[in-house]
Amino acid sequence: MKTVLETIDRERPDAEALRRAGEIIRRGGLVAFPTETVYGLGGDALNPESSRKIYAAKGRPSDNPLIVHICRWEDIYQIAEPVTEAACRLAKAFWPGPLTMILNKKELVPRETTGGLDTVAVRFPSDPVAQAFIREAGGFVAAPSANTSGRPSPTLARYVQEDMDGRIEMILDGGEVGIGLESTIVDLTGEEPMILRPGFVTQGMLESVLEHVETDRTILDADCRLRPKAPGMRYRHYAPRGQLTIVEGSQEAVIAGICDRSRQAKAKGQRVGIIATDETAAFYRADSGADRIKSVGSRADEAAVGRSLYRILREFDDEETDVMFSESFSDSGFGQAIMNRLLKAAGHHVEQV
Ligand code: TXA
Ligand code: MG
Repeated sequence: MKTVLETIDRERPDAEALRRAGEIIRRGGLVAFPTETVYGLGGDALNPESSRKIYAAKGRPSDNPLIVHICRWEDIYQIAEPVTEAACRLAKAFWPGPLTMILNKKELVPRETTGGLDTVAVRFPSDPVAQAFIREAGGFVAAPSANTSGRPSPTLARYVQEDMDGRIEMILDGGEVGIGLESTIVDLTGEEPMILRPGFVTQGMLESVLEHVETDRTILDADCRLRPKAPGMRYRHYAPRGQLTIVEGSQEAVIAGICDRSRQAKAKGQRVGIIATDETAAFYRADSGADRIKSVGSRADEAAVGRSLYRILREFDDEETDVMFSESFSDSGFGQAIMNRLLKAAGHHVEQV
């Protein structure tokens, strides 16, 4: 299959290209598209055959449910029931935007899309290209992140191309995404609303709208006897090809600890990468002997850190890095999403210094 790459200007999206993309979805094909979080791999959410194709293109286990993307709030009533009061309040506060809600599904949504579950994950993205594309596609687009299963989610169309070239009909290139980490997922089907995956919409933000919101304990916990509630959080996701270790402690101890580990790995002939911050990169340049030192941005700017994390993990992959060391980040607010993805990438390998 030849994969067509269409460049879309966010300010003035080409209506004709979007119409062609929508047409592919209506015919049962697959199109990757930008959202404000990461690129999605879209298919018709109401067509079981499309969902099967998505699983095949990603190499993803078919018991891992897909998110259904909509482009008008009221369309939620066609796919979920009941649409609870909590759902209405969250939608009013955070939609369109980087929040996914889990509700009981209606008949219209095939089980192939929900990985066999009776619940459905629904998201109304804010990206105007995503919205226009979903509209052209018929209103209900199932989309996981547009990476091969086990690789970091794509924040640029180039990375979608790396993973999906020849497997899907079209990629809509809308440039770099704004957030860079996947949406917050909140499950509204239990007694208490529960965060299954942290994201840009934080627990604090959710609690400003709903009184109390729980967080699935497995999100930052290495204890694998606990079973995450979102099937996708079970898999070793976001995994770079090399081994990543997070080094935790005071800033001075972390710099010394990472420099020591880096020199030892170099002595063994390994290719070493360091995930640094603007505040610390110069120290590693002077002392670690690492092959590559990449800054995720300033600690003062968590949004920048979130946006560059997956890109940096992919770059280390492309450079065939054997071992990587990363500093740790605060796990409050948006930092919780950053640490959740970093811990997963590291397979929870953390060393205290
Ligand atoms: O930001 C995002 O959410 C991106 C963009 C493309 O919208 N999408 C995304 O999809 O991250 P995906 O498939 O990579 O991750 C969806 C997660 C998986 O961990 C899946 O198990 C969980 O959502 N999920 C989906 N439906 C669910 C359900 N009914 N119950 C529990 N977890 C569900
Ligand atoms: Mg994903």
